[in-house]
Amino acid sequence: MLIGKPADIPPSEITSESVYLKRRSFIQGAFLSVAGTAIAGSTQAKEEGLLKKLDYQQSSASSPAGFYTGEALTPYDDIKRYNNFYEFGTGKDDPSRYAHALTTDPWSITIEGEVDKPGTYQLEDCLSWVDIEERIYRLRCVEAWSMVIPWIGFSLADLLKKVQPNSKAKYVSFETLVRPSEMRSQRRSFSSIIDWPYEEGLRMDEAMHPLTLMSVGLYGKQLPNQNGAPIRLVVPWKYGFKSIKSIVKIRLSEIQPRTTWQQLAPREYGFFANVNPAVDHPRWSQKTERRLPSSLFSPNRIKTQPFNGYGEQVASLYTGMDLSRNY
Ligand code: MTE
Repeated sequence: MLIGKPADIPPSEITSESVYLKRRSFIQGAFLSVAGTAIAGSTQAKEEGLLKKLDYQQSSASSPAGFYTGEALTPYDDIKRYNNFYEFGTGKDDPSRYAHALTTDPWSITIEGEVDKPGTYQLEDCLSWVDIEERIYRLRCVEAWSMVIPWIGFSLADLLKKVQPNSKAKYVSFETLVRPSEMRSQRRSFSSIIDWPYEEGLRMDEAMHPLTLMSVGLYGKQLPNQNGAPIRLVVPWKYGFKSIKSIVKIRLSEIQPRTTWQQLAPREYGFFANVNPAVDHPRWSQKTERRLPSSLFSPNRIKTQPFNGYGEQVASLYTGMDLSRNY
């Protein structure tokens, strides 16, 4: 990313995994009642879809490989206030300051291109097709900071199967909402470096991988706006910029789609963007990362793992590829 010196995070207590596990049943109850309030007055069908969504499966050590890590969770407050969401500004605290302006209900997603069932689908309908579960993933930003986040969501593959990609579908691309009235950096007066909408893409096999998540919540609650409400992508073995937020369009195509960061700075940000400590960013090392929470005196620097530690699950997708060229 085009960044300045990252702001230091004051030390705060890490929520240990065991404490979170104890709290989870409580949090889940709270989530249900918050969502219950939000859906008051809506139709019975919509309500049932949402309740199904909220009745999520909690992850555990027995979840499929990679779905869960027992590492210390990054506290909820850090996850909510240290963000990249350029639609609201380039500062790490801009999203938490300004994203409350975003209206996330109603929300629909247009799915188009090489699919047998293209259409514009209401979010509630999409959620009624899938099973929601918790996944505890590492998130590694290309800027060399990282977090451990308990997401709630579903495999992208389950959504794609529903709309039936045809044999020409080789790639999937995603677009974030464009709404300058609520996303301040999209206003003309802001002269942003990004040509909106923010766009990202995956190869079909990456999109269909079970680790590739569409997230609708974290820490047992609906996604905070600054984290990409109401629905975002999470691809845990890739740098965070692939994990596009507030998605309104999904397109299946035969050719590799254009992506925002690759287009802006192709020598710095590639299409694949797999986490790779062996390939440095032209302006900084990728060998280590700052695990949040961290501070000047307690930087909490750890080694970066190939594929962000998900190599066992995903390295085979790239057999025969030169990953220093296909960065
Ligand atoms: N999606 C959109 N639409 N706009 C963005 O600026 N930033 C990306 C990604 N998704 C971004 C985005 C980057 S660089 C990162 S590291 C992650 O979101 C950060 O996600 P988080 O703020 O929830 O930690």
